[in-house]
This record gives sequence, C-alpha cells and structure tokens, in this order.
Amino acid sequence: MPVHRNLANGMTSTDELIARRERLLGPGNPLFYDEPVHLVRGEGVWLTDNDGTRYLDCYNNVPCVGHCHPRVVDALCKQAALLNTHTRYLHENILDYAERLLGKFDDSLDRLALACTGSEANELALRIARFNTGGEGLICTNATYHGNTAAVSQLNSIFEPFEGYGDSIRMVSWPDSYRARDELEGDALADAYANEVRLAIESFNESGIKFAGMIVCPIFANEGLPNVPEGYMDKAIGYVRDAGGLYIADEVQAGFGRTGEWWGHSSSGVIPDILTLGKPMGAGHPISGVIARGELLDNYRRREMYFNTYGGNPVSCAVGLAVLDVIEDEGLVENAATVGNYVLQGFQELQSRHEIIGDVRGRGLFFGIDLVSDRETKQPDAGSAKRIVNELRHRGILMSKIGEHDNVLKLRPPLCFSKENADLLVSTLDDVLGNVQARLK
Ligand SMILES: Cc1ncc(COP(=O)(O)O)c(C=O)c1O
Repeated sequence: MPVHRNLANGMTSTDELIARRERLLGPGNPLFYDEPVHLVRGEGVWLTDNDGTRYLDCYNNVPCVGHCHPRVVDALCKQAALLNTHTRYLHENILDYAERLLGKFDDSLDRLALACTGSEANELALRIARFNTGGEGLICTNATYHGNTAAVSQLNSIFEPFEGYGDSIRMVSWPDSYRARDELEGDALADAYANEVRLAIESFNESGIKFAGMIVCPIFANEGLPNVPEGYMDKAIGYVRDAGGLYIADEVQAGFGRTGEWWGHSSSGVIPDILTLGKPMGAGHPISGVIARGELLDNYRRREMYFNTYGGNPVSCAVGLAVLDVIEDEGLVENAATVGNYVLQGFQELQSRHEIIGDVRGRGLFFGIDLVSDRETKQPDAGSAKRIVNELRHRGILMSKIGEHDNVLKLRPPLCFSKENADLLVSTLDDVLGNVQARLK
C-alpha cells in the first residue's frame, strides 16, 4: 500500500497523529510497535488501517466475540436509542444480566456489583476483602498488573507506583514451571512456591499487619501464562484461608471463555471468595464487575454505599447480555478449546524446528511463546521478541509480548478465530522466526 505524505510538511498521516498525540495527551501514552498502526475499522478477527491494509488480530481479547459483532452493536444501539440512565432507577436489564452471569458460577458466588473498568472492579474487590476481614495485608505476585487506581497500583509489580510500595503488600514468586525454582518438579515445586505464600503471611504477622487475602489472575496471564504446577493453587489458597484471608481471582483477562472454559479459575478447582471481571465482558464497551459470596458483598454494602454512575446502566447490561448470547450461540468457548488446541500444536511444531523457542504455553485461545537465546540456560531473549512482534506487524499479524523478562510472545485473538486463521498465523510466524534467527547468526 502507498504511504501518503502531506506535501506541505513531508509527514505521513501516521507521523502527524503521533505528533498531535504527544502535543495533546503528553508523553508516556503507550503505543504498540516501532511504527504504530492507525486502525480505522474492525470486523471479526480482522482490523483495517487507514491505508486499507488488513491485519489478522491475534492480540485483542476485549472484542472476544469478534470486532464490531452485529448482534452486540445492534443491542447497544437499540438500548441507547430507548433509554440510558445512571443506576438509581429500577430497570430489568441489570437484573436479567445479573441472573444470566451469576448462573455461570459456582452457587456460592451469588452477588454481583457492576463497574466500568477492571481497575475499578479490583479496587472494589480489595475494599470488600479488607472490610470483611478487618485486615490490610494483601499478597500478589512479583510480575503482575491489576490496574491503575492508587490502591490497585500497589499490587503492580510490572510498573512500580511512583509512591513506592507501602507496608500492606507482599509479593511472592509467580509459579513458573519452565524456569522452575531450584529446578524442582511436581509436588516439590508446587510446595516451594506455595511456601512463599505461607512465609508472606508470617511476615505480615511479624509486622503486626492483619492479613486480608491474596489476589492473583488464576492463569497468571501478565506473568507469562505459566503451566501452573499441579496443586499450587490448592496449597497457596489453603494457607490464605487458614490465616483467615480471602482469595480474590482477577478474571479480567482470563474470563469469558478465553481458556476454553468459561472461567480461568475453573481448572484449578479452587473457587474464589471474590472475583473480578472486565475487558471481554462488553466486547469493547466499558463494563466490569465484582462477583462475590453473598455475605461478603452484603456486609460491605450494609456499611458503604457503593455507587457507580455508569456501572450497570441499561446500555451496558444490554451489551453484556448480547455478549453472553453470542458466546453461547456461536459456541465460542468450545471454539477456544478446539482451535486453541490446533494453534498450540502448530506452535509446538515450530518449536521443534526453531531453536529460539524455549517453551510454548497455551490455555484455550491464549498463548505464550517463550523466546530464549540458549535452550540450555533458558536465557530470555527480549530483543528477538521485540523484533518478531514488529516484523509480524509488517506482515499483517498483530500480537504483543509479556512476561517478567519481556520475552514471551503474547497471543489472545478474538474467540471466533478459525483454523484457517491459525494456519495463516503459524505459517507467517514460521517465516519471521526463520528471518530473525538467520540475522542472529
Ligand atoms: C489482569 C488484569 N487486571 C486488571 C486490569 C485493569 O483493567 P482496566 O485497564 O480495564 O482497568 C488489567 C489490564 O490490563 C489486567 O490485565
């Protein structure tokens, strides 16, 4: 596609947008890719830029049902044309949505509070946990992100908050079974990681800080999507509960079918006390939520009025219902499991031929490809991850990278991803891996 330059200043329209962004929004607004993409349209798993170039979206989990799904857009438009208000009036949509959504969880999780962002949901979850336990102390992992409010930023180990960390947070190692702690395996590895949780609780006790609970993404998505050592969650949350703490599962990335099951926590068999939802919940419309055991939310609500002007408004709930309808009617959870497995096999085949791939991890349609400069030492290769992500962008495939070492290719396509899409992804990645490795030699 031709690149259009402004004849007066020689800048491309992309350069102009970047300059305007800097001028109006200030520095530090993150942009993906060395040459950022200017998107103007989305449909299904495809995105189109301002020059008409199409990209296969292998990154975006928010439009879980596919970009601009007609049924979601229709539900949004119909309700927006009829009524939208804050949530201090009676309306059926919030109740219909609560019934449908709560029906997808264990019976013990029977209350819902709605908000607009994952950060707000986590903020509320922390307050509910702290109120109910009377504690302050929280455990999170040492390579995570849970959102951007002042309280939630305290949990962010990927970006240290400018205020620094207060006394009420303890970070434990995420349960990595690839670069396994002390090269342990099986039960011994699960025990070693879970033991850190026990020690963190002890350290709160020693500091006179009452313990409130532990918050983790149940699939440790931001940490790099590890294969969690079997039994880890059982053991870690066992320590948490023995000490009177609560388990908060942050399902903001893991939920709504992403893993080939409805919820990320399901496979561990450990039911959270509180869990939070966001990103895919409205397929792009800002809606998030906290789901909790009834008594926890009720106790909190009796003491504190939680009001969120937009949280749970009739339009958001109409969108939320439409998203559930589409996931169910189009069999997207099952699709995530079957196509996810197909993609994983494709990546494993690439791993057998490309030395740079140290480990391939997948849960439904969520993948992490761990790149290494040496398979023996498992030395993370963040430089190649960056080159590969940028090169794929120029080959029409969008993805990103994550992990403690920033060396894990991160892929989470919309849940309507097909085997045909998978073939294109795997063959293009094959090419790009070959090119990048050839240049390393
Ligand atoms: C696991 C997790 N929790 C919470 C959040 C925050 O969600 P939001 O950006 O909607 O506030 C994020 C955002 O990336 C996330 O990855």
